[in-house]
Amino acid sequence: MSLKRIAIGLLVLCGLFGCDGLPGKPDPAKRYIRPENVTHFETLYEMNCSGCHGADGRLGPSIPLGDPIYLALAKPEYIEAIVQSGVPGTTMPAFAISEGGTLTDPQIAIIAKGLHEKWGRKEQALIEESLPSLSVSEASEVGRPSRGKNTFGVFCAECHGALGRGTAKAGSVVEPPYLALVSNQNLRTVTITGRRDLGMPDWRSVGPRVMTDQEIADVVAWLANQRPQIPVPGKMN
Ligand code: HEC
Ligand code: HEC
Repeated sequence: MSLKRIAIGLLVLCGLFGCDGLPGKPDPAKRYIRPENVTHFETLYEMNCSGCHGADGRLGPSIPLGDPIYLALAKPEYIEAIVQSGVPGTTMPAFAISEGGTLTDPQIAIIAKGLHEKWGRKEQALIEESLPSLSVSEASEVGRPSRGKNTFGVFCAECHGALGRGTAKAGSVVEPPYLALVSNQNLRTVTITGRRDLGMPDWRSVGPRVMTDQEIADVVAWLANQRPQIPVPGKMN
């Protein structure tokens, strides 16, 4: 076999099996990683979440996952469960492969843990207080819309107006298209954590005093009660 043939043979083998150890070796950092093998939190967050929850965990169209107050309340298991199944009837997708999504359970766990490691600050003051549960299904009180209207007047009217239709300080929270697209979970989360990235304080300082569990539930019930009654398949919350 001529030297030329050997050289060509090597090149073909290189093309088929890669050329580790030969000159021109590909940079391992640039190698293609199959999506299910990505384990780097920043990459996973950037590829899957930042479009809706903000590049650095805030100022996205949906709630800021990088808010330390939110993270003090949202345990990793809670986040994992929502990321696995999504929120039916909203744009929050289900990411678990078993639910038609693209992320493995270990990847979802990496994201939930990574959010806490990157943006969660263990605020001692928060941990010592008795905290409202973020989860709608674990809320300690059942809300009553009739009471919620008054409660809204006390805590929310200053910015959103007595009927929730908005003022110069903040927009309407009762428009049918808005309410049709948000879940009660989202209304509860925002009532508790506020939107500190947009200037809405959390439940401890949104009004004249800290909101009670009952008041949080009542306000959410009052808002939810104004949702247009168009049945959305699969929407439970
Ligand atoms: C296409 C937009 C979109 C993408 C992409 C997206 N989300 Fe969401 N997410 C939403 C919306 C909208 C909501 C609020 C839904 C509702 O009304 O409850 C939400 C809600 C959530 C909640 C629940 C918040 C609460 O109430 O406590 C978590 C946790 C969450 N998303 C995490 C993630 C993570 C992690 C990723 C990436 C793996 C992600 N989301 C990707 C739009 C998105
Ligand atoms: C100090 C002013 C202020 C008060 C008080 C306030 N909000 Fe807000 N709220 C805002 C601002 C600012 C936004 C950002 C969007 C906007 O400008 O409308 C907002 C947004 C919201 C949203 C939409 C969140 C989203 O993700 O788009 C909801 C729901 C809401 N507020 C509910 C409430 C409730 C319930 C109360 C009372 C418990 C309340 N707000 C009290 C200022 C306030």
